[in-house]
Amino acid sequence: MASAQPTRRLRRPLIVGNWKMYKGGRAGIELAEACVGFARDLRDVDVVVAPPYTALAAVAETLDGSPVSLSAQNLYPASEGAFTGEVSGAMLEECGCTWVIIGHSERRQVFGESNALVADKAAAALRHNLVPILCVGETLKERASGETLGIVERQVEAFLDIIAQSTKPVAIAYEPVWAIGTGRTAGPSEAEEVHAAIRSWLFKKDPALADRTRILYGGSVKPENASALLACPNVDGALVGGASLDAASFGAIASAAAVTPAT
Ligand code: 13P
Repeated sequence: MASAQPTRRLRRPLIVGNWKMYKGGRAGIELAEACVGFARDLRDVDVVVAPPYTALAAVAETLDGSPVSLSAQNLYPASEGAFTGEVSGAMLEECGCTWVIIGHSERRQVFGESNALVADKAAAALRHNLVPILCVGETLKERASGETLGIVERQVEAFLDIIAQSTKPVAIAYEPVWAIGTGRTAGPSEAEEVHAAIRSWLFKKDPALADRTRILYGGSVKPENASALLACPNVDGALVGGASLDAASFGAIASAAAVTPAT
């Protein structure tokens, strides 16, 4: 039953739109303008958008002076060099990014990124004043065989020393692979179980790290399911794919996060 006194969230909610390989040109600027439009009316929530590389510079201009922050979707660990096709943390910082998504399951699965590479990328992000959004999550096969927590723990373990050695903020996104772009979503209790486990691993390493790290849920987050997921005590926000390509949907999810749950 809801109490008369709304509880305060422990951490400021964070809603990130991962545009993936969409909206790389003019359409990206228009979407960013629409996000600025709704974000101006929201209190107590951080809104971040992650366009493809080709739109970063233009979107940075659109977001300038607004409450919406800019993220990249990936980076390469070296600062510069002969790495054709890659983009460094230094370049992202110069371009106006303050966030970067690292180790998304599409990077891990399609491009073969290992836990070790994800850790190198996390270190590079922190060196370049980018807040890393470190993605973890199990496949359907792994969940079916009861390996979810073991898999996610190994993924977290890979970058735990790096984030614990820094006092800079980081975010972790739990994105079950089977829930990404499928319309299937983890139920609030399934999400909370994994989020609470992640929080406990952080706590074992450093209670302050557990306290300040925002743990986002990702995987078919929509306006219809956002409130229930965001009401979980260890769900501090959402990493949104498909629904972030539509400003009305993304705005509705951000509004759900801005409302303090009365639990
Ligand atoms: P969907 O919201 O489209 O399932 O994508 C989730 C995701 O991968 C965000 O990074």
